[in-house]
Amino acid sequence: MARNVSASSDKGFPVVVLISGSGSNLQSIIDHRLDGDPPIDIRAVISNRADAYGLERAAKAGIPTVTLSHRDFARREAFDRALMETIDACRPELVILAGFMRILTEDFVRHYEGRMLNIHPSLLPRYPGLHTHERAIDNGDSEAGATVHFVTAEVDGGPVVIQARVPVLPADTPDTLAARVLRQEHVIYPQAVRWFADGRLTIKDGKVLLDGEKSPLQEVASDEP
Ligand code: GAR
Repeated sequence: MARNVSASSDKGFPVVVLISGSGSNLQSIIDHRLDGDPPIDIRAVISNRADAYGLERAAKAGIPTVTLSHRDFARREAFDRALMETIDACRPELVILAGFMRILTEDFVRHYEGRMLNIHPSLLPRYPGLHTHERAIDNGDSEAGATVHFVTAEVDGGPVVIQARVPVLPADTPDTLAARVLRQEHVIYPQAVRWFADGRLTIKDGKVLLDGEKSPLQEVASDEP
């Protein structure tokens, strides 16, 4: 386990990002973190895998990194408790799951209720779980996409903040479709984080509010092939 989180200062709106892999969504948040006022202060990037490329992206951007391997814990509850302690030591106001491929315990989810976002590569509620692009192609869907949502105990099931839609093309493979969707993920995730940092995005009684209004589903459509 490596820890190099330093006490952070008044550099902006404090967030922590959790990853397991490539971290391209993390990169999009890094690239947009100075776009608004307050800027986004990524206090730490935490990975459950030491080989996650996202850790290199974070280090390159001068962001503290932590590897906390689930393999070092006998039980899911113990891992989640350690993760919670690591996150809370950074005092974030928002926890951002960016390709963090772990099922979370109810205690963990409840602890961050209303202040934890996730991105999922499908038009939820369609295709929670894995292999979303393959399933969309196999079902003959004409559209696919990605969803940013608040995290609840239901896996990939929380209230939707924003979605991006892309066409499924006849020649698509899961990989080509994944790449098209991922480009839109990089648009909608920084947008959702910005709304939250600006205090525009909240959740009340399980409903997503944007500027205090029950938000009609926010959508971004792309016909980019
Ligand atoms: C993204 O496509 C994200 O939507 C997905 O993992 C990928 C991570 O890519 N997340 C899930 O499937 C969560 N259920 P990245 O590491 O390059 O951001």
